[in-house]
Amino acid sequence: MKTYTVAVVGATGAVGEQIIKFLAERKFPIKELRPLASKRSAGNTILFNGEEIVVQEAVPEAFEGVDIALFSAGGSISEKLAPEAVKRGAVVIDNTNAFRMDPDVPLVVPEVNKEAIRQHKGIIANPNCSTIQMVVALKPLYERYGFDRVVVTTFQAVSGSGWQAVVELEDQVRASVNNDQLPLKVMPVGKLDKHYPIAFNVIPQCDVGLENGYTLEEMKMVRETNKIFADDKIQVTATCVRVPVYRGHSESVYVELKEDFDLEEVRELLANFPGIVVQDNIQEQVYPMPNEVTGQTEVYVGRIRRDLHHSHALNFWVVADNLLKGAATNAIQIAEALISED
Ligand code: A2P
Repeated sequence: MKTYTVAVVGATGAVGEQIIKFLAERKFPIKELRPLASKRSAGNTILFNGEEIVVQEAVPEAFEGVDIALFSAGGSISEKLAPEAVKRGAVVIDNTNAFRMDPDVPLVVPEVNKEAIRQHKGIIANPNCSTIQMVVALKPLYERYGFDRVVVTTFQAVSGSGWQAVVELEDQVRASVNNDQLPLKVMPVGKLDKHYPIAFNVIPQCDVGLENGYTLEEMKMVRETNKIFADDKIQVTATCVRVPVYRGHSESVYVELKEDFDLEEVRELLANFPGIVVQDNIQEQVYPMPNEVTGQTEVYVGRIRRDLHHSHALNFWVVADNLLKGAATNAIQIAEALISED
């Protein structure tokens, strides 16, 4: 069997750590794993298949001999180093926003548009975590009924902003209970000057604000959905909200289908679609929640119900582990699809 040299850029981060764990769990055919991070982490070790591997600084030369490079170290690192990796012969699977809307870069969720991988010119982009779980849930509906309009509200976990945000939530909870001053450095957007507590709070901002009144996170959901379905007619409106949850994004989705539907058929379509688990029985209080999907790779759908006013519209609730299907799992599924062509 052919084996591959795989670099993980951001190996010490929230997503990078999951990628490395998942590469081992899925028995990805690895010749050499090369964990890369900042200078700060160079020389530290990570555990892979029971073996200690030394973390190297992510510099252009570190990509010599690399076949596949999985990037999760932030957009500016991808912008700088992904072209260096490609120049040295690697295929880059990028988890950041750096290349997602580049027409030469396929934006891929394997359950939805796996065939787009073939068009890559060295870089394949992994969509935003909130987009991934929504488009997986929408795909069987798109195939069966088509749709024009989607209105989504997200409830996003802090781990989507990296380890520092997870630590900040934990520190804020402790400080609140002890009546101490709250540490305020990361939420809602680390690089902005103004910070709000996320502990015991809900913040209607998950990325920088834009001129049109939306946030970048919201516009990612809009544009990425059009690109993944290759359909600019789909009208998405998003409101992205950060909630005090460590891990697992939840979304309330309203979709206007192009034709009338049978609710039982919708449940079946969703349940039979690869990568979706339906948990839907309000009478029995069955519905997905983030603390139960942590560590799971599937997309969970529940609260499926007909809209009260629009005859072709449907409401549902979708939950997934943002670090897995929202990031690491999707990236590794892309890598698996890529090597299946070899
Ligand atoms: P490091 O741990 O050395 O800072 P998270 O998403 O959890 O915040 O993690 C971000 C990841 O990106 C970490 O692995 C971090 O490494 C890595 N990273 C941050 N800055 C750089 C950089 N300049 N070069 C390479 N990797 C970086």
